[in-house]
Amino acid sequence: MLAKLQLRAPLWLLLLLLLLPGLPAAQGQGAVASAHPMATEAGIAVLADGGNAFDAAVTVAAVLAVVEPYSSGMGGGGFWLLHRASDGFDVMLDGRERAPLAAHRDLYLNDQGEVVPGLSVNGPLSAGIPGQPAALVHLAARYGRLPLAQTLAPAIRIAREGFPVDEHYRRLADWRLQQLLQWPSSSAQFLVDNQVPPLGAIIRQPQLADTLSRIAEQGHDGFYRGPVAQRLVEGVKAAGGIWQLKDLAEYQVVEREPIRGEYRGMKITSAAPPSSGGIVLVSMLNQLSQFDLSSYSPVIRKHLIVEAMRRAYRDRADYLGDPDFVSMPVARLIDPDYAAGLARDIQLDAATPSHHRPPGALTEGHDTTHYSIIDAEGNRVSATLSVNYPFGSCFVAPGTGVLLNDEMDDFSARPGVPNVYGLVGGEANAIAPGKRMLSSMTPTFVETEQGVAVLGTPGGSRIISMLLHGILSLDAGEGPQAWVTRPRYHHQYLPDLIQFEPGALSVDEQQQLQAMGHQLKPLDSTYGNMQALFWNREDGRLSGASDPRGIGETLVK
Ligand code: DON
Repeated sequence: MLAKLQLRAPLWLLLLLLLLPGLPAAQGQGAVASAHPMATEAGIAVLADGGNAFDAAVTVAAVLAVVEPYSSGMGGGGFWLLHRASDGFDVMLDGRERAPLAAHRDLYLNDQGEVVPGLSVNGPLSAGIPGQPAALVHLAARYGRLPLAQTLAPAIRIAREGFPVDEHYRRLADWRLQQLLQWPSSSAQFLVDNQVPPLGAIIRQPQLADTLSRIAEQGHDGFYRGPVAQRLVEGVKAAGGIWQLKDLAEYQVVEREPIRGEYRGMKITSAAPPSSGGIVLVSMLNQLSQFDLSSYSPVIRKHLIVEAMRRAYRDRADYLGDPDFVSMPVARLIDPDYAAGLARDIQLDAATPSHHRPPGALTEGHDTTHYSIIDAEGNRVSATLSVNYPFGSCFVAPGTGVLLNDEMDDFSARPGVPNVYGLVGGEANAIAPGKRMLSSMTPTFVETEQGVAVLGTPGGSRIISMLLHGILSLDAGEGPQAWVTRPRYHHQYLPDLIQFEPGALSVDEQQQLQAMGHQLKPLDSTYGNMQALFWNREDGRLSGASDPRGIGETLVK
């Protein structure tokens, strides 16, 4: 074992950061970074109309539900990390889907106890009980100042009038075409003549507009009780699913204390369980703070980062699940001393092998979505939302316009058997009635001496390592454009390999990493779709960037 340089932020610096909220307010009306221009523009318009960041967050999520049906929606869920400027209050809204009450741990196994391929990914049996409608209603009522009738209006209008199909839509619809064709309600909503729509075709979703209008008029009960709930349950049951009215009637959003950590003087606030994001992120950063990364060559630096990823993702698999169902050693997992222990057997010149379990299938993953908002008062929202796989379960409950998620695949269908992201899990993430499935979504705030970053991304299991890259880029003095652009590499303990985007590792670095014992998996495409903002508290300036891998837009007004 080799010596390491200890580098920790002095306590006085952190205390100073905590006392800083009185600095200049953000200039203008605010900033929005989202994965779709129509959502960003609608969010900015709400800020201009006197809404705060939380009102804009309702609008952006609802518009994304309409124009990015492959990523997120009213039939899905997510996590909204909020910061209220008036009193410095941080909270995470947990709008994660729950397993139906009729679900059980062996739901996706056959008589021989083997996982039935596709069952947790396609069709209504793969759908958890949606959380997004509840979260938006809660966000508006508790934190916003505009009525839902106003903040949902842009989404209702776009659902009714339609939006034009772009290349991104076409690619993902093509990927899920066979599943979309299984259900007439889905092909009618998302295809044209049972085919991938041509570029520029207008997708109108009048039934989704009606469902959104009900939520605007009746709030939570507009979705979870009454005719919409009835149609959802009837549609799911008729198509082989197991939802019941009481599943919807019982659904509640939960406010959770975010995960907090620090790295070289930066204060990290991130997603709490049932997301693994904050814990894995803080664990990686804690391990890396054992090293003076800038003192190593680029390839050793990458090796150290990979080794920190490996160890943090191992803990994810072993310990994490729904906090309402399992007890987890959260305080220990994010404790710097525990991370120092994890980092102790990191060697500077050799990979630590992961214990062998079956390697998982890895998908490219361009679904799920993230947006970041900062308003003029300094309120902030970092939200990552999902229907899981592209177009979720591909099942639209007839008469509702609501495309259901396939988030049930985020559970561990059987201990040690990888899910679509190659992630393994155990008892902590086993299926149980009413339980929330473990997520990797990692909406995050980073406070530095200079300002505040709001960032996040889709990308399945790779979300958390993308956040790590973004934060290391910030720490290296780079701005939002670099955080979202930097080529990415990833390790998740199992399968035991480094996946990397084209250009992320030079040929020479690849050879050196292999010589250390790393297995490499070059990817032929890029991944992720990060949306990031930065509020410079010294001069009040807002800036931001949308990932060049996607079609998103950042506006500062
Ligand atoms: O919650 C999770 O971790 C996953 N359902 C997120 C899926 C995702 O990011 C897919 N995107 N590429």
